[in-house]
Amino acid sequence: MKTTTRPPSRAPFVRAMFGRIAGRYDFMNTLMTGGRHHAWRRLAVRRARPAGGRALDVCCGTGDFALELARQGATAVVGVDFSREMLALAARKAQAVGLGDHVQWQLADALELPFPDGAFLSATTGFSLRNVDDVGRAVNPMIIDGQVHGGIAQGVGQALLEQCFYDSATGQLLSGSFMDYSMPRAHNFPFFATQISEVPSPTHPLGMRPAGEGGTTPALGVVINAVVDALSDFGVRHIEMPATPERVWRAIRGGQTLPPSVSTNR
Ligand SMILES: C[S@@+](CC[C@H](N)C(=O)[O-])C[C@H]1O[C@@H](n2cnc3c(N)ncnc32)[C@H](O)[C@@H]1O
Repeated sequence: MKTTTRPPSRAPFVRAMFGRIAGRYDFMNTLMTGGRHHAWRRLAVRRARPAGGRALDVCCGTGDFALELARQGATAVVGVDFSREMLALAARKAQAVGLGDHVQWQLADALELPFPDGAFLSATTGFSLRNVDDVGRAVNPMIIDGQVHGGIAQGVGQALLEQCFYDSATGQLLSGSFMDYSMPRAHNFPFFATQISEVPSPTHPLGMRPAGEGGTTPALGVVINAVVDALSDFGVRHIEMPATPERVWRAIRGGQTLPPSVSTNR
C-alpha cells in the first residue's frame, strides 16, 4: 500500500503545537469532554481486545490509551508519538501508576512507522486521525482534500442544520432561498485535518476511485452520536436530524432518567 503524506510543512507545526500544550493536555481533554474521555478510551481498548498480545498505540500523546492497553492485558505496548514533550509526560505517568515496564515510548512519525514487521495484535489511535479516505490514485490531492472537506460540511449540515419547511395550508415551500434555508457555512466549522490513503484501484485503468462523498456519510453518524453522547446524562438516547438547538432543548426537557443533580431547565 502506498500512502501519500501531508505536506511536509504541517508536521513541525502540529508537533510544536502539542509541545506547547503538553502540560495542559490532560486537563483540556477532561474539560472539553466533561471527563468522558477516560470511558471512551476504556471502551475503544475493550474493542481492540489487546489481551495476550503486543499492542501499538499511534499518536499516543500523554499515554492514556497505551496505559489502558497495558491495564487490559496487552503483554507489551508500544506508544508512538512525534512530540517529545507529550512522550515525556506519558513516561512519567506510566512510572507513577506502576506500568513503567509495560510500555515502550517511541519517538516517531505515524506516517513513517518504524516497524517493518508490523507485528502487533492490535493497533489503536485516539483523537488523531480526523478523516481517512481511500481514494485510489490521488491525481490531484488538493482537489481531493477540498472534496472531502465539502463532503464533511454537507454531512454536518444535514445532521445539524438543513431542513425544508412547507406551509401546511398551501404546501408552499417556506425555506425556498438560502436566506431562509439553513446552509452550512464556513464559520460553522473548524479546520479539518484530512489524510489521503492512496491505494490504486485494481479495476480502473488509472487506479482511480471516487472521492467526493467520503466525508458525507461518516459525518452524519459522528455528529449525531456525539450529540446523543453529550445528552446521555439527560436520558436522551435518540435525536432526529437535524439536531437543531430547539430539538436539543426539547430532548433535554423530555429525557427519561434525569439524574437528581441535573436541573431540568439547564
Ligand atoms: C489530540 S492528541 C491525542 C493523544 C492521545 N491519543 C489521547 O488519546 O489523548 C494527538 C497526538 O498525536 C500526535 N501526533 C500528531 N500527528 C502525529 C504524527 N504524524 N506522528 C506521530 N504523532 C503525531 C501529537 O503529538 C499528539 O500527541
